[in-house]
Amino acid sequence: MTDHIKITEEDGIRIVRIDRVEKKNALTQDMYQAMAEALETMADSDLGAIVFFGAPEIFTAGNDISDFMARAMTTDLTTSPTIRFLKALVTCEKPMLAGVDGKAIGVGTTMLMHCDLVYASDRASLKTPFLTLGLVPEAGSSLLAPKIMGHQRAFELLVLGETFSAERAREAGLVNQVVADSELEAATLAAAQKLASLPPEALNLSRGLLRSNSEDIIARIEEESRLFAMRLKSDEAREAFMAFMEKRPPSFVKKAS
Ligand code: COA
Repeated sequence: MTDHIKITEEDGIRIVRIDRVEKKNALTQDMYQAMAEALETMADSDLGAIVFFGAPEIFTAGNDISDFMARAMTTDLTTSPTIRFLKALVTCEKPMLAGVDGKAIGVGTTMLMHCDLVYASDRASLKTPFLTLGLVPEAGSSLLAPKIMGHQRAFELLVLGETFSAERAREAGLVNQVVADSELEAATLAAAQKLASLPPEALNLSRGLLRSNSEDIIARIEEESRLFAMRLKSDEAREAFMAFMEKRPPSFVKKAS
């Protein structure tokens, strides 16, 4: 149980709100677990869509860095709540939407690649600093991002780690519409309501036709997580995490042996 994920239901829509503002909405294992359950239980519900929101000016700072350090000690990452959440994003049977205000970092950006509709405020920005943390892309993003935006833009986002403004993300095809922050929730919920009012069987079939093959994405998530688990234990990642915790720049210079 966690208080940092707030789940409400309104007019046939499930709203999942990330709420750990004091840590910039960084995601812990309990939070992934709560979000995974929210997605998994959509199938047997009468709900028409699920919507993700963060807090004003911060969608999420991505995975909690102390949690990364703890996970570096564990051997089996394939059964972690993180992987359960990522797989639930792939297999969720109802439309998924996100309304992004402020920063969406790491999984905050890669989870958007699974959503059916993404709205962003004009002050939103997307960034995946996997490489500066000594890590590799996750959440199936190495497969999905090139499909959405082409190899070069995906490389710029996932490998170079460049920040994409909301407008750049819209041009790249990852965001449907950029709106004023005061209009973000209304615009996202209006789209969710519209989806929920469509004939459910036709919607389900159409969504299945448009979405990429889920087995391919799950296979890629598993491949990425094997590498990710190895990288979490690497000297480079350890140095990057320690530098973040100690509020200093990392130093990746190899020591002479
Ligand atoms: N994991 C754990 N704690 C985090 C965090 C994360 N991903 N992101 C932010 N925090 C914590 C900070 O440690 C700080 O905690 P403290 O007040 O106890 O010192 C608090 O949240 C506020 O963060 P701070 O860095 O002071 O805020 P900021 O406005 O200067 O910067 C960010 C905000 C999001 C740009 C910055 O915190 C950041 O870069 N976070 C890491 C993002 C990241 O690399 N995520 C992993 C992606 S794979």
